Amino acid sequence: MSHRIASIPGDGIGVDVTVEARKVLDAAAARYGFSLEWEEFDWSCERYAETGAMMPEDGVEQLSGFDAILLGAVGFPGVPDHVSLWGLLIPLRRAFQQYVNLRPVRLLPGTTSALAGRTADELEMVIVRENSEGEYSAIGGRHNAGRPDEFVLQESVFTRVGVERIIRYAFELARTRSGHVTSATKSNGLIHSMPYWDEIFAEVGARHPDVRAEQCHVDALAARMVQAPDRIDVVVGSNLFGDILSDLAAAVTGGLGMAPSGNVNPSGEFPSMFEAVHGSAPDIAGQGIANPVAQILAGAMLLDHLGETVAAQAIRSSVDEVLAAGKVLTPDLGGTSTTTGLGTAVAETLR
Ligand code: NAI
Ligand code: MG
Repeated sequence: MSHRIASIPGDGIGVDVTVEARKVLDAAAARYGFSLEWEEFDWSCERYAETGAMMPEDGVEQLSGFDAILLGAVGFPGVPDHVSLWGLLIPLRRAFQQYVNLRPVRLLPGTTSALAGRTADELEMVIVRENSEGEYSAIGGRHNAGRPDEFVLQESVFTRVGVERIIRYAFELARTRSGHVTSATKSNGLIHSMPYWDEIFAEVGARHPDVRAEQCHVDALAARMVQAPDRIDVVVGSNLFGDILSDLAAAVTGGLGMAPSGNVNPSGEFPSMFEAVHGSAPDIAGQGIANPVAQILAGAMLLDHLGETVAAQAIRSSVDEVLAAGKVLTPDLGGTSTTTGLGTAVAETLR
């Protein structure tokens, strides 16, 4: 069995951590009897500086034949963040209908969490973030520029199809886990979009009577995530709410260096794309000290998605083993190891 994977390391530490993830995935493939055929793409802010575009015009077409995509991170000082985001990440997510952004969260051994003292059981959840519409819309604009009555409009888009499919995905995921789903809302403040979201959540809930459904205002949910994370399992949220909650969830479970994510096209019609939650971290780029765990775990999600679930689980166990031993840790985890050192330790454990 062979899988074709497109690798886009991108910018900054995206490059360093993607090398390590590939190393670990190749070790898993060798051990579990399948092969990975990699092709690398240099699409990045560096490319933008040279050519004026983050990716070629037919970028989407070039990727469409792959089984999955492993993305590092894009963004670097000198190129505005909205250029790197809207020039690569968002077009890929939208063209490939990766309407689910899946962010599993687990308390990993040996981490200095804000919630240290809790057990891994209490702190295991998954954020299902809407990834194709909502608050991240290009509709709006700046008016009366430069005048005292200058103003901007930033519109949100919530479609029935878009809201229904992400909520249905969360209910179905909940069925395979604890049977409990929490919707992040804010229908007291956003009086059009969020009541609509709530209405559809209730409709889908009625079709899943075996799943315990609950809704919670996003601000209260943020507090609950810190104070009573054991009361949360699957969280479903809009593009903006899901984005914020998943960074929070990452922070309370060991930091951005440990948090993976997947941009999933559930129908399988298009490739799904896996990446660490973190960005290109220009403050530590080029120093060889970035934590590769998030990207390695993103690689495990990629293998899960391709049906290589045994190999994926072996990667997670190897990460746990290395972290629990506490000998090879990057500086963000209180150690002195390099990116390569930690990646190699995980690959060796796997072999
Ligand atoms: P960031 O996630 O790159 O960094 C935030 C902080 O966390 C920094 O202090 C960084 O050193 C630290 N950090 C992040 N990942 C780490 C790791 N693996 N190991 C150790 N420390 C780590 O977020 P920031 O600084 O807001 O954004 C930097 C650039 O990345 C921007 O251009 C932004 O647009 C881009 N970005 C790209 C994303 C993507 O490609 N999906 C996601 C988030 C940001
Ligand atoms: Mg984010």
